[in-house]
Amino acid sequence: MNPRTIITGTGHFVPPKVVTNFDLEKIMNTSDEWIQQRSGIRERHYAEDGVGSSDLAVEAAWRAIESAGIDKSEIDFIIAATIAPDHYFPGIGVMIQAKLGLSTIGALDVRNQCSGFIYALSVADQYIRAGSYKKILLCAAEVQSHNLDYSDEGRDMAVLFGDGGAAVILEPNPADDGRGILSTHLFCDGRAYRDLWMEHPSSRRKPTISADLFETGGFYARMDGKNVFKNASVRMPEAVMAALQHNNLTIDDVALLIPHQANDRISQMVAQKLRIPIEKVARNIDRFGNTTAASIPIALDEAVREGRVKRGDHIVLTAFGSGFTWASAVIRW
Ligand code: ACO
Repeated sequence: MNPRTIITGTGHFVPPKVVTNFDLEKIMNTSDEWIQQRSGIRERHYAEDGVGSSDLAVEAAWRAIESAGIDKSEIDFIIAATIAPDHYFPGIGVMIQAKLGLSTIGALDVRNQCSGFIYALSVADQYIRAGSYKKILLCAAEVQSHNLDYSDEGRDMAVLFGDGGAAVILEPNPADDGRGILSTHLFCDGRAYRDLWMEHPSSRRKPTISADLFETGGFYARMDGKNVFKNASVRMPEAVMAALQHNNLTIDDVALLIPHQANDRISQMVAQKLRIPIEKVARNIDRFGNTTAASIPIALDEAVREGRVKRGDHIVLTAFGSGFTWASAVIRW
């Protein structure tokens, strides 16, 4: 049997600047009460001008490399997930390679929004189990704060997002002890792609960029919040149940559920539907906001460092996001 993929190192990094709900009250038409009640968020981190997603990914990568106890030269492949690349192209994977000073190993960018980490994890898992690579660096990082719409039209989204990065090192498990990634399940429903999207810049449009887009706010992300809420709170439990059934596990076997930190009300709804005690659910959105692809690996790194995850525990990850895409993964730690 092919070896399972284990996570041997984790790390995360958020930019030092903290922006509280009260700070947002000063620049837009919102309130701490509204934000906390609707999302559970108290504060988030914002990157300074000149700092991009690749920079956060690199800081997180150094921490993951250190925690794995490896030398950077041992990394033989990079996978990066972001919806906020430093540039329209190339992706951030190549920038991470250059900034870490790695050799000419391949770098792959995955674009699956809030589900990006689990989609990327599934790709890494296939490569490791096939024997293609021995030490994969997987980074997920987002700088969203540089493109938020603080007007009334965009305030439903602007208050939710924060900046952050996280990374994991993935390797084949040398032992035959059953530890590792047990499964990944990936789903999407592309019919809903306009319900949570950033329409411009668009290759369908000629010219791709023009001044009227600034006037109409065409460069900002938009969502149908009600539909996102409804689908997220159904699809994540569905994905978790598919994963548990596939592995002959029940919800009682789960030591920690790490849902994408979309909105704490969504996480609570997911916990309720799955009948898992809320203490077993990772929740850090109050301090970081929604960091899209980075939210699951940030929560994972915190859980590992806090000792919430023990050897042999079953950890379940689940995500939902733009696309719509949704996913789950089961890891025996
Ligand atoms: N501050 C103050 N008021 C606001 C804000 C804000 N930041 N944003 C919107 N409002 C106002 C609206 O303008 C509207 O005002 P109106 O009634 O005068 O027109 C009112 O609040 C709407 O409030 P609600 O009655 O709570 O509306 P609704 O029930 O539709 O809830 C919400 C909106 C909170 C966005 C809800 O749809 C939701 O939680 N959706 C989930 C979206 C989410 O969390 N996405 C996560 C990001 S995507 C992802 O990661 C998958």
